[in-house]
Amino acid sequence: MSDHRTETREYVLGTDPVELDRLGVQHRLWGDAAHALWRRAGVQPGMRVLDVGCGPGYASIDLAQLVGHEGRVVGVDESEGFIGELNRRAGVLGLGQLGGRVGDVQSLGDLLGDEGDGFDAAFARWVLCFVPDPAAVIRGVVDRLKPGGRVVLLDYFNYEAMTIAPREPILDEVVGIIAEAWRARGGDPDVMGRMPGVLLDAGLEIEHLGVHQRVARPGEAMWAWPTTFYASFLPRLVETGFLSAELHRAFAAMWERASADPSRFKALPPVWEMVAVKPG
Ligand SMILES: C[S@@+](CC[C@H](N)C(=O)[O-])C[C@H]1O[C@@H](n2cnc3c(N)ncnc32)[C@H](O)[C@@H]1O
Repeated sequence: MSDHRTETREYVLGTDPVELDRLGVQHRLWGDAAHALWRRAGVQPGMRVLDVGCGPGYASIDLAQLVGHEGRVVGVDESEGFIGELNRRAGVLGLGQLGGRVGDVQSLGDLLGDEGDGFDAAFARWVLCFVPDPAAVIRGVVDRLKPGGRVVLLDYFNYEAMTIAPREPILDEVVGIIAEAWRARGGDPDVMGRMPGVLLDAGLEIEHLGVHQRVARPGEAMWAWPTTFYASFLPRLVETGFLSAELHRAFAAMWERASADPSRFKALPPVWEMVAVKPG
């Protein structure tokens, strides 16, 4: 492995406009799972909610509309660009109850010192899989939760199980490279396998554990999830030396063929969900 593949701790998926738009598509495709989980966790008007690693705030905006003007939503993300976008959108939508903070979610105590009352819920979707120390994130969250407050997680375990039918060895190879690049930046595409232990160690009680195994077919909306991910992330993997330009071209040709073939389907990476409560 050459040095330039590991020298930076920059967030592995990047924060450019293509990624910003991809997160919007992703939220539209997965918002149903988030809303169902928030309902299960009892999120309702008047509550105070933390959106941990909120990105440009697609979920934060939904949460802010859910808790209403009597509630409060604070989004935290290390990307200044994403938090700028969240605050801009909150202003346009008149959501005074929503505010973004720039910072590392592994140091939430430093970031939320002036937030006053504790939170009723903390939501973290597709964030713990990117941080080197998810236990530090959860410890920071638990410190800021009210007794009876809930931690609500959506993230990956068994990520590399994603595949296409009929199988394409090049897809399995590229998925392996994606996971390798992710781990090289301190992330873990299997993070949800560790989270029950992390939550229990932090003194929480686990109320719910479930999984979404979704399928995408060419021509369906969900096919855009992998398509936009490959369009955003694979060029970065070429730039950073994880993926060769030749393999990228071969993969893109395979994906284009599959996208035009109604007999194909993709088994998407399993997305796991958990709700845990801080004892009262
Ligand atoms: C895949 S995006 C998910 C964004 C959002 N949670 C959503 O579901 O739309 C991951 C986000 O985690 C943020 N992130 C990664 N590591 C972080 C860290 N250590 N501290 C704060 N934010 C981080 C990135 O900037 C990015 O916005």
